[in-house]
Amino acid sequence: MYARSAGLSVKSSGGNNSTLQGPSAKQRTQAQGKGNIRKLMPHTEKTGERRPSQSRGNRLSQLFSSSPKANQQPSAQQALMAMQNGSSPSITASGLALPTISLSTATAGEPNQDEPPTTLFQPPSSTEISRQKRFDAQFGPLVDPTDRYVSKHHGEPLEAPIIDEPPYYYVLTTYISYLLLLALGHIRDFFGKRFSKKQTYKTLRVANGYAPLNDDFDSFYTRRLKMRIDDCFARTSTGVPGRYINVLNRVSDDFNETYRYTGGATETLNMSSYNYLGFAQSEGPCANAVEECVKRYGLSFCSPRADSGTSDLVCEVEKEIASFVGKPAAMVFSMGFVTNASSFPALVSKGCLIISDELNHASIRLGARLSGAVIRSFKHNDMLDLEKKLREAIAQGQPRTHRPWKKILVAVEGLYSMEGTMCDLPGILNLKDIYKFALYVDEAHSIGALGPKGRGVCDYFGIDPSRVDILMGTLTKSFGANGGYIAAEKHIIEKLKSTNSATMLGESPTPAVLMQILASLKIISGELVPGQGEERLQRIAFNSRYLRLGLKRLGLIVYGHDDSPIIPVTLYNPAKISAFSHEMLKRRISVVVVGYPATPLISSRARFCVSAAHNKDDMDRLLAACDEVGDILQLKFSTGIAGGLKPLPEDALEKEKIGQGAKGPKLVIEPPRWSLEEVIARGSEDAKMRLR
Ligand SMILES: Cc1ncc(COP(=O)(O)O)c(C=O)c1O
Repeated sequence: MYARSAGLSVKSSGGNNSTLQGPSAKQRTQAQGKGNIRKLMPHTEKTGERRPSQSRGNRLSQLFSSSPKANQQPSAQQALMAMQNGSSPSITASGLALPTISLSTATAGEPNQDEPPTTLFQPPSSTEISRQKRFDAQFGPLVDPTDRYVSKHHGEPLEAPIIDEPPYYYVLTTYISYLLLLALGHIRDFFGKRFSKKQTYKTLRVANGYAPLNDDFDSFYTRRLKMRIDDCFARTSTGVPGRYINVLNRVSDDFNETYRYTGGATETLNMSSYNYLGFAQSEGPCANAVEECVKRYGLSFCSPRADSGTSDLVCEVEKEIASFVGKPAAMVFSMGFVTNASSFPALVSKGCLIISDELNHASIRLGARLSGAVIRSFKHNDMLDLEKKLREAIAQGQPRTHRPWKKILVAVEGLYSMEGTMCDLPGILNLKDIYKFALYVDEAHSIGALGPKGRGVCDYFGIDPSRVDILMGTLTKSFGANGGYIAAEKHIIEKLKSTNSATMLGESPTPAVLMQILASLKIISGELVPGQGEERLQRIAFNSRYLRLGLKRLGLIVYGHDDSPIIPVTLYNPAKISAFSHEMLKRRISVVVVGYPATPLISSRARFCVSAAHNKDDMDRLLAACDEVGDILQLKFSTGIAGGLKPLPEDALEKEKIGQGAKGPKLVIEPPRWSLEEVIARGSEDAKMRLR
């Protein structure tokens, strides 16, 4: 990307850049570039050896040997070279076209006919402009260099975020809405099944002696509730899900049974992808490395790991992941969901106990069930409840026999994607020291997204990763790739490799995906393009805090911890799920809305996924939209106990726990209702302070 910007200006302007670099510099550049791509690709053969000839004579081979992208722009080698040389250290470098001047040939008043015309400020060509536009749509330029923050816990015990509650009439009308929907649905089903000839009801009746596979109760929720707002879910998009996402325009003429695509797409601000570090890009160092990798490795290993799917690339990625998360060994899987689903059965079995956080992801639940171990759950992030469950389990032993458990495994997530809460890792480790259980942490949403170095919850809390037995993560989110990993002691990984059905029998991750993981990891750790990884990490941390504080100040109820890049905003009423989504789409913003059963019945919510690809302007645009939509849909009902107040007196936090002051006059909590202008004016500075 930046390397390409630089490369393009060398090629097209022929001005400052080319003069500075000169032919020898260019050659050096290419030679170094080759060295760098070699470094990135684990292999025994030299880069380029397998590349077909690109001689002018053979146009067909040219067509297949290099992509049109590669023809227009410098090669991956050049890009990587530029990265490593630090010639484009900042993500924000726009580098459209530098001013060009030809002092040697300038003659006053007389244009030199032999020289191509030069001007002081040559405007960028239309190709350059459209390429820059495409790039900015995937990764926004940084507005202000100070819009950064280091994601780090400051040592105090992790407090559960205060859950603000709406007025009673909100809860009441929400229940009434659901009751009404249920009653209407049952009445329609009752009559429909008996009297209607519509195809929908046919599948619910007994036909030719066959019982319906989907009876009316099974599919009731989908047909009678979800279908009403189904156009808000699974919208079809096209292109890269970066800073912006293009949503295909569609309408439904039959109440969301089917959709008609009306042509074209709407470019929207993307608050819906788990693109935490902004690596969802079709250009730039990762894309270049992937392109080169596909030329060398093809698209698939065409085999499970246990057969011939274990390539040098897989081994290199595993080594890199292990060193990134701080564990002796790691293994990769081709799917994050399957990583959990297949690892629990390989780690625990009958006679073992899994104690799982009640809000753990479906993949953890499935894996736990498949393992045959006994499963118990504890209240979300509640250390007292976890301790109670542990003591009971240890005291009682296995059911019926009361023999001791073979193993006790506690499973938690680093960052919960529906709540925006982080696990209380220090609290869990205190209990681990006392009760000696094994600990499994799913870092699907925290790896890359938390910690000063992006290494997840251990990094965030400053905890040695060796204290956690198993670190699991997915590569689908922060790394812009897909798949999952497990990192642990060597003997655990050896056991997993030989007993885990997903790798024994399932396909190996593809070369392109592995290269994306490798390149993004190297950027985050600063090995490639020094400074860029750090910038990405600090941008997401700033954006998350800025947006969260702004939403609270506008008066919305926001869930989760302050440093979480997942920001849920409560909607409550089922009708507001679709209304919010539509209002946001009208303002060209894509958001994820979530309702029951993914959330408790009354706390439907919109969930903003913040990315390093966003900048402050994007956050302001979202805040302005939330300000308007919050008024239209009456969503501004926070009381202030969860933060967003006007600055409190210096000693207020120490003196008083808000709402339950110990001595002296009670702190009066005014509901925060800042104006948008105030929110934007104060946000950047205040977001870097302790939030309240
Ligand atoms: C906590 C958690 N674990 C595992 C997964 C599955 O990961 P993937 O989507 O990469 O299959 C997810 C998916 O969102 C998740 O949230």
